[in-house]
Amino acid sequence: MGFPLPPFLFCILILSPFFLVAQSQSIGNVTPGASHTASDINSTWLVSPSGDFAFGFQHPNEDKDLFLLSIWYAKIPEKTIVWYANRDNLAPRGSKVELTADRGLVLTAQNGSELWKTESLNGTAGSGFMNDTGNLVLQGSNRNINVWESFNDPRDTLLPLQIMERGRTLSSRLSESNFSKGRFQLQFLQDGNLVLNSINLPTDYMNENYYQTNTNGLQLVFGQSGDLYVLSENNTKFNLTSDQGSSSGQLYFRATMDFDGLFTVYSHPKDSFSNWTALRYFPENMCLPVFNQSSGVCGYNSYCSLENNRPVCKCPTGYSLLDPNDPNGSCKPDFIQGCKEDELSPTKDLYEIEVLNSIEWPYSDYVQLKPFSEEECKQSCLEDCMCAVAISRIDNGVFGCWKKKLPLSNGRVQNRQNLKALIKVRKDNSSLPGQPFLNPEIRKRNENDTLILVLLSVFAFLTLILLGALWVGFSIYQKKLKINQRVDRVNVDSNLRYFSYEELIKATDGFKDELGRGAFGVVYKGAININMGSTFLVGVKKLTTGLVQEGEKEFRNEVNVIGRTHHKNLVRLLGFCEEGPQRLLVYEYMSNGTLASFLFGDSKPAWNQRIQITFGIARGLLYLHDECSTQIIHCDIKPQNILLDDYNNARISDFGLAKLLQMNQSQTNTAIRGTKGYVAGEWFRNMPITAKVDVYSFGILLLEIICCRRSVDMEAFNEEQAILTDWAYDCYREGTLYALVENDEEALNDKKNLERLVMVALWCIQEDPYLRPTMRKVTLMLEGVVEVLVPPCPSPYTTTAPWRD
Ligand SMILES: *[C@@H]1O[C@H](CO)[C@@H](O)[C@H](O)[C@H]1NC(C)=O
Ligand SMILES: *[C@@H]1O[C@H](CO)[C@@H](O)[C@H](O)[C@H]1NC(C)=O
Ligand SMILES: *[C@@H]1O[C@H](CO)[C@@H](O)[C@H](O)[C@H]1NC(C)=O
Ligand SMILES: *[C@@H]1O[C@H](CO)[C@@H](O)[C@H](O)[C@H]1NC(C)=O
Ligand SMILES: *[C@@H]1O[C@H](CO)[C@@H](O)[C@H](O)[C@H]1NC(C)=O
Ligand SMILES: *[C@@H]1O[C@H](CO)[C@@H](O)[C@H](O)[C@H]1NC(C)=O
Ligand SMILES: *[C@@H]1O[C@H](CO)[C@@H](O)[C@H](O)[C@H]1NC(C)=O
Ligand SMILES: *[C@@H]1O[C@H](CO)[C@@H](O)[C@H](O)[C@H]1NC(C)=O
Ligand SMILES: *[C@@H]1O[C@H](CO)[C@@H](O)[C@H](O)[C@H]1NC(C)=O
Ligand SMILES: *[C@@H]1O[C@H](CO)[C@@H](O)[C@H](O)[C@H]1NC(C)=O
Ligand SMILES: *[C@@H]1O[C@H](CO)[C@@H](O)[C@H](O)[C@H]1NC(C)=O
Repeated sequence: MGFPLPPFLFCILILSPFFLVAQSQSIGNVTPGASHTASDINSTWLVSPSGDFAFGFQHPNEDKDLFLLSIWYAKIPEKTIVWYANRDNLAPRGSKVELTADRGLVLTAQNGSELWKTESLNGTAGSGFMNDTGNLVLQGSNRNINVWESFNDPRDTLLPLQIMERGRTLSSRLSESNFSKGRFQLQFLQDGNLVLNSINLPTDYMNENYYQTNTNGLQLVFGQSGDLYVLSENNTKFNLTSDQGSSSGQLYFRATMDFDGLFTVYSHPKDSFSNWTALRYFPENMCLPVFNQSSGVCGYNSYCSLENNRPVCKCPTGYSLLDPNDPNGSCKPDFIQGCKEDELSPTKDLYEIEVLNSIEWPYSDYVQLKPFSEEECKQSCLEDCMCAVAISRIDNGVFGCWKKKLPLSNGRVQNRQNLKALIKVRKDNSSLPGQPFLNPEIRKRNENDTLILVLLSVFAFLTLILLGALWVGFSIYQKKLKINQRVDRVNVDSNLRYFSYEELIKATDGFKDELGRGAFGVVYKGAININMGSTFLVGVKKLTTGLVQEGEKEFRNEVNVIGRTHHKNLVRLLGFCEEGPQRLLVYEYMSNGTLASFLFGDSKPAWNQRIQITFGIARGLLYLHDECSTQIIHCDIKPQNILLDDYNNARISDFGLAKLLQMNQSQTNTAIRGTKGYVAGEWFRNMPITAKVDVYSFGILLLEIICCRRSVDMEAFNEEQAILTDWAYDCYREGTLYALVENDEEALNDKKNLERLVMVALWCIQEDPYLRPTMRKVTLMLEGVVEVLVPPCPSPYTTTAPWRD
C-alpha cells in the first residue's frame, strides 16, 4: 500500500465531499475476512492502482440512508456508476460487504439478512482487487485463476478491454436513479447475433428486436481506444464504432445500455470537467422501432419524438400524463369518453377534432376505410362512440382512414406527406370535476319538530285551525299534487357520468362518512377515481329506497334534467347510479358547509356578504324557474339546502328531487314535500303547485338572512318576535326595522337596502301566490332596477283564512 494520491485526485477530494476517501480504503488486495460498512464516511472500499475506478457504496437516489454496492469512475465529478450489485435490494445504512473464501463477496444488512452475494464463484477466493480496467476481480489462492470478475457479470455498461461472450446480456436500469432491471436489453445471442430488444416488465417476455447486427460473431469486443466490434470466427470484425485513435490515453470510454433504449458509446476527457459525449447511438432513431405487444418506446396514448437523438415522449392534445412524475409514461384523456357516457348525452357536437401532423400510431385500429377523405374520416370518428383517434393518410395514392380505440401504442413522429392524426377531444370538459367543490352537507333535518308544534299551538288558539288541520289531512289524502312542469327533454345534453353501485361503495368506503341527512336520503362523502388518474371528493346522495319510482326511464329523464343545469349558484350533479332498487346521485363536494351553519353560527356574517348570498340564491332560483329548458321547481328551499363554495357564493342543492319523489307518491304520500316553516300555503290547499312556492320559501329565507335568525324561534324571543314573518311585518309597518338587525352597524348604515330587502321579502311571503312576484321580478327588485311597492300584510288571517277556498 502507501500509494501516494495523484495530485488531481486530491483536487477533486477537496472540491467534492462525494469523493471523500475512507480510512478503510484499500489500494491493492483484500483477503477473506476483510469487510466494509455502508456509511457516508467510508464510501470507497477498493480503489484501482491508477485511481480511475473505485468500488464501495454509493447512494443511488436522494435517500441518504440507502446504499448501492457499486463500481464507479473515481476521478470525474459526475457520478458515473458502471457496475452495481444489489440493484433490487438497496442496502440500509450499516450494511456490510465482506470477502469470504467460499462465497466470495457477501452483502448483509445489520440485522443479518443477506442482500446480495457473488453468483457462480469458480473456486475458492484468496484475494480481491480493483483492476485499472474497472474490473473487480476475485482470485483463487494461487493468484493465477480468477474465480470471479465483474466483467463477466455485466449490468448496463461495457468498459474498454471488456469482452462479451455469446449468451451474455446487458440490461438497462429502470431510470437514471432506479437501478432495478429496466425494459431494454442488449443480447449477444448464442448464434453470434448482437441484438437490442425490450421486455415487458415485470416478466421477461421479449418483444421483437429493434436492432440487430445479423453477425455470426464469437465475441463482442470493446477495444482500449473505444472501438467496439463483433469479432467473427474467421477473424473479421463487424465494426460498431471506429477506432478513436491516438486520443485513447486521454479519454475514458464506456458503452451503456441506456434506460431509454439506446445503446450508446460515450467518451469523457480524463483530465477535464466536461461531460460525457455520445459518440454513437444504436439505433439511430429510437422512435421508429415498434413493439406490437407493448406500449412501444413511450407509454400508452403517448407519442415519441426525437430530440438530440434521444426519444422524448409527449401526450397528444387533450391528454395528460397518467403519472405526472413519469414524463415518459402513459397518457390519459382529460375527459370522459365512451359509448355509455355518450348515450347519456346523445348530441353530435360533444366532441371536436384536434389535428396533429405527422403523428402515427401504427396499431390499435379497428377499422380501415378506403377511399375516405380526411373530412369524411373526421366526421366518421366524431359520430362513432368507439373512435378515439383516426389516422388519415395517403396509401397507394388514395386517402385512407384508420379508426383507432384506446389505448394507443407505439405512437411516434413520422415524417410522411399527408399523414394526420385526428384526435377526438371532448369540447366541454367543464363537467369534469376538477376545481371548485361543494360540500352538499345537507344537515341533519334538525328542524325542531317540537318548535313546530308550539308554532301550531299558537295558531291553535284560533279555533278554526282545528277545522283547517282536519281539512288538510283530508285534502292530502284526496289529492294528487300536480306540479306543472313542462316535460320537454328532447335535447338531452348533460355530461353525466354513470357510476356502478360497486364503484360508489368503493368511493365512499362502504358509505362510511355521513355528511348529512335530508328528506330524500343520506349524503356520504366519497372520493372518485376517474380515468385512473386523479381522485377528487364528491358528495354521494343515496336516495331512500322505495321513495323513488323504479322506472329506469323516468329516473334517467329526471336526472338528465338536473344534469343539464349549469349555473354558478347551483351545486353541480356529476353523475348517478341506478342498480336494482338503488338510486344514487353524485354531486360536487365542498367543505364550507350550509347557509344554516353560516347564518345561525356564533358570529353574525357581514351584511355585505349576506346581501351577496341573497343575490346568488335569487339568481340560482331564477335560472331554475325560467332559464332551464325544463322548468325546475325546487319545493324545499331552506338554509340547509343552500351551500357555500370556497368564495362564499351561494349554491343551491337538492333541486330537481321533488319531481323525482313525486313520481310514485300519489297514493302513499304521508308528508308534504318541503320543510315546515318554509312551505307555502298552496301545499295545504286545493291549489296548483307552481314556482311561486319557491318564491315563498325564498322570502322566508331572505328574512332569516337579514336577521340572522331562524324563522321560528320560540325560546330566544318573546312571543311577538317568535314568528319572524309576523314580527318583520310589524316592524315594517311601525317603521322599526332597526329592531330586526339589532346591533348590526353595517346593516343600520345601509337603511335603504335594508328596507328594500324587507319589502321584497314581504312580497315573497304573501299568502296569495298570485300576489307574490316571479323570481325574475324579485331579482330586479333586489338589484334596485324596479321600484318595490308597499307590500300588503302577508297573512291577513283576520280577513281571509289561508285555508279558505
Ligand atoms: C471506516 O471503516 C473502517 C472499517 O472498514 C472502520 O474501522 C473505521 O472506523 C471507519 N471510519 C469511520 C470514520 O467510520
Ligand atoms: C432486515 O433488514 C432488511 C432491510 O432493511 C429487511 O428487508 C428485512 O426484512 C430485515 N430482516 C429481518 C429478519 O429483520
Ligand atoms: C473454472 O475454472 C477452471 C479452472 O480452474 C476452468 O477450467 C473453467 O473454465 C472455469 N469455469 C468458468 C465458468 O469460469
Ligand atoms: C488488470 O488490468 C490489466 C490492464 O490494465 C490487464 O493487463 C490485467 O490482465 C488485468 N488483471 C487481471 C487479473 O484481470
Ligand atoms: C425502482 O422501481 C421499482 C419498480 O417500479 C420499484 O419497485 C422500486 O421501489 C424502485 N426503487 C427505488 C429505489 O426507487
Ligand atoms: C467472415 O464471416 C462473415 C460472416 O460472419 C462473412 O460475411 C465474411 O465474408 C467472412 N469473411 C471471410 C474472409 O471469410
Ligand atoms: C473495422 O475497423 C478496423 C480498425 O478500426 C479496420 O481495420 C477494419 O477494416 C474495419 N472493418 C470493417 C468491416 O470496416
Ligand atoms: C454537463 O451536463 C450538465 C447537465 O447534464 C450541464 O448542466 C453542464 O453544464 C455540463 N457541463 C459541461 C462542462 O458541459
Ligand atoms: C408482432 O410481431 C411479430 C414479429 O415481428 C410477429 O410475428 C407477430 O405476428 C406480430 N403480432 C401482431 C399482433 O402484429
Ligand atoms: C424521459 O426521457 C428523457 C429522454 O429519454 C430522459 O432525458 C428523461 O430523463 C426521462 N425521464 C424519466 C423520468 O425517465
Ligand atoms: C379544459 O380544456 C382546456 C383546453 O383544452 C384547458 O385549458 C382546461 O384546463 C380544461 N379544463 C378542465 C377542467 O380540465
